[in-house]
Amino acid sequence: MYDGFFRKIEYLRFSITDRCNFFCKYCRTKESCEIENKDFPKDEIFRIIAVFKKLGIKKLRFTGGEPFLRDDIFDIIEFADNIGIKNINVTTNGYLDEEKIEKIAKSNLLSINISLDTLDRQKYKVLTGVDGLGKVISSIKSLSRFKKVKINTVLLRSVNFDEIEHLILFAKENNVVIRFIELMPVGVANRIFESEFVSIKEVLKRFKNFHEIESSENSVAKYYYLEDFDQVVGVINAVSGHFCGSCNKVRVSSRGVLYNCLFDKIGLNLKEYLNDEDILIEKIQEFVKKKNFTRLPSTDSMMFKIGG
Ligand code: GTP
Ligand code: 5AD
Ligand code: SF4
Repeated sequence: MYDGFFRKIEYLRFSITDRCNFFCKYCRTKESCEIENKDFPKDEIFRIIAVFKKLGIKKLRFTGGEPFLRDDIFDIIEFADNIGIKNINVTTNGYLDEEKIEKIAKSNLLSINISLDTLDRQKYKVLTGVDGLGKVISSIKSLSRFKKVKINTVLLRSVNFDEIEHLILFAKENNVVIRFIELMPVGVANRIFESEFVSIKEVLKRFKNFHEIESSENSVAKYYYLEDFDQVVGVINAVSGHFCGSCNKVRVSSRGVLYNCLFDKIGLNLKEYLNDEDILIEKIQEFVKKKNFTRLPSTDSMMFKIGG
């Protein structure tokens, strides 16, 4: 499937639930999720994935909310694999018990991205609302033995600007890649954006010797080899960078609405067309043709609904 700028759309991010067991200060507040509904049914998710497979999607990422709060996530992964999507990934907060970890290890997931913004137990608790640092660290250690694991760290001036080196060493010690992400002015993050935003440029200034390296992934992340640490580190300059022009993805929200961009306000409600696959395909193609080349400056979209 191509958009209006002849970009091949091959990456689908699917927020399969807006439920989450965390309240990260830049993502979800108690008020922002009062109107939560029930998750949408598995068979509707199957139908949407099947249609996107027909439209040429090659890479699928399940997000949320917290996608592992759905007990049927492993059926959904299996379904996607069975219909021939081989690049299936998930983004999680990593607050996972042993049973889930075993299932992930046995699943056909290609990679797991785990959020970790601080290595300080108290700061972690204040930031996420959960005293979960120990459990998340243990998920990273266990999962990295079976799967490709990447750590996502959202840069926050008052939380982790003084922990960057420590976080890089933690990633190195555990043989995983860490990616530093610029805080985006989306949803509740708008409230803290001014005081907390740190640019990637500011992070790179801290290192003397580094060079960009080629990555085989078609990703928004850029990767650098830091000589001082003998370690590869990723950065996602979601605010200061200009990667919209080569964007290859679309998103489905936890309410079944298709968005061309994280920052878009207008979406296509796929639920209205689920009973007729031909019409659904036509509507999606027509909608994706309208994908923009740049993005809106900020938005009130909720990250836990649209999936980041
Ligand atoms: P990989 O496939 O491993 O590269 O993952 P990913 O970076 O696509 O996914 P992940 O869910 O780990 O997202 C990491 C960060 O990148 C999150 O903060 C996302 O919101 C952000 N992100 C992902 N895609 C886009 C995008 O197209 N635009 C913007 N602005 N941010 C994005
Ligand atoms: N800006 C940047 N990243 C964000 N995430 C959630 N909200 C924001 C934001 N406002 C990150 C999470 C997770 C990924 C899906 O998106 O930390 O790693
Ligand atoms: Fe939950 Fe992820 Fe949002 Fe944190 S960033 S509240 S873990 S959806």
